[in-house]
Amino acid sequence: MDPPLQTIREDGAAVVILDQTRLPRETAFVRLGTLADAARAIRVMQVRGAPLIGATAAYGVALGLQEGLPLARIIATLAATRPTAVNLRWALERMRSALEKCRPAGVQPNGLREEGLPAGAGALSALAGRQDLAWDEARAIAREDAEANAAIGRHGLEILKPVAAMKDRVEVMTHCNAGWLATVAHGTALAPIYAAHAAGLAVHVWVSETRPRNQGQLTAWELARAGIAHTFIADNAAGLLMMQGQVDCVIVGADRIAANGDTANKIGTYLKALAARAHGVPFYVAAPVSTIDFTCPDGMHIPIEERSAAEFGALHTPVANPAFDVTPAVLIAGIVTEHGSVPADQLARVKP
Ligand code: MRU
Repeated sequence: MDPPLQTIREDGAAVVILDQTRLPRETAFVRLGTLADAARAIRVMQVRGAPLIGATAAYGVALGLQEGLPLARIIATLAATRPTAVNLRWALERMRSALEKCRPAGVQPNGLREEGLPAGAGALSALAGRQDLAWDEARAIAREDAEANAAIGRHGLEILKPVAAMKDRVEVMTHCNAGWLATVAHGTALAPIYAAHAAGLAVHVWVSETRPRNQGQLTAWELARAGIAHTFIADNAAGLLMMQGQVDCVIVGADRIAANGDTANKIGTYLKALAARAHGVPFYVAAPVSTIDFTCPDGMHIPIEERSAAEFGALHTPVANPAFDVTPAVLIAGIVTEHGSVPADQLARVKP
């Protein structure tokens, strides 16, 4: 029997991920048994999408502790993998805070006494308890991500219902992949679409290619598996479709939302938001609260990942490859979180 199609799952003392670098050509799974495995999976984008990066990092902490590595080194290694998706830092901070509450007195995170001598049996059993705690916390982060995204689906459905009441089919445009592949389950931007489909609403999705890594193909693959009508387009076709009145709303995910609502998402998102404003198409962002960086005042302070020129293929010319752009809050009709939809400039309403 085929293994379950989950982005991430536990398997004994390891974690199994769906290798997204091989989709949509083949479904292949990779076993992560060490901190290095987890860090590599995030860096090379075998796992991708802000919420899934966060969950993988949390499990990476558990794997690193299992290897007896110091917590500070584990966290530094994982934090250095990708800079923009704040769920990575959020998950690492949550793991750190849970684990620091349970550090045996006088013992370093690697099981040695502060002065370098082996720890006694009591301390070692406390360290084993700490590893259990790390697995428990990572599991909780994964479970809560799935729950948050299901709630985003329910809240986002309320945005689509009035459109569905007025016409035969709701036309949604999205960008990149913010479906279940980008999360532990359900997706963010695609969660309302899955909820609408489950509720019997006719919905059609415009899926943009998302150069240079083509995450749009992942979205098309997800929607095809779910039997949801969709059409694949080149990124540059989005403006024309909006001008022609073929788009009722745009819903995208997010990698980091600043406190003022400015939103970093996959490169090309900003152009869609500009076109949407020009043609009166509402533009929504769907993301869990873990994607909101309340310490970041505005979009200018969001670090933008610069990726390798190799992602364009073999070009003998200078290349710039910023992986994300920032959509100003003023272009965003609403941010759909697990606690409901809020205006982009009122994120304080969902602050934990
Ligand atoms: O570089 P990626 O594929 O990790 O980036 C993912 C995105 O930018 C998605 O658009 C998404 O909205 C964020 S994850 C739900």
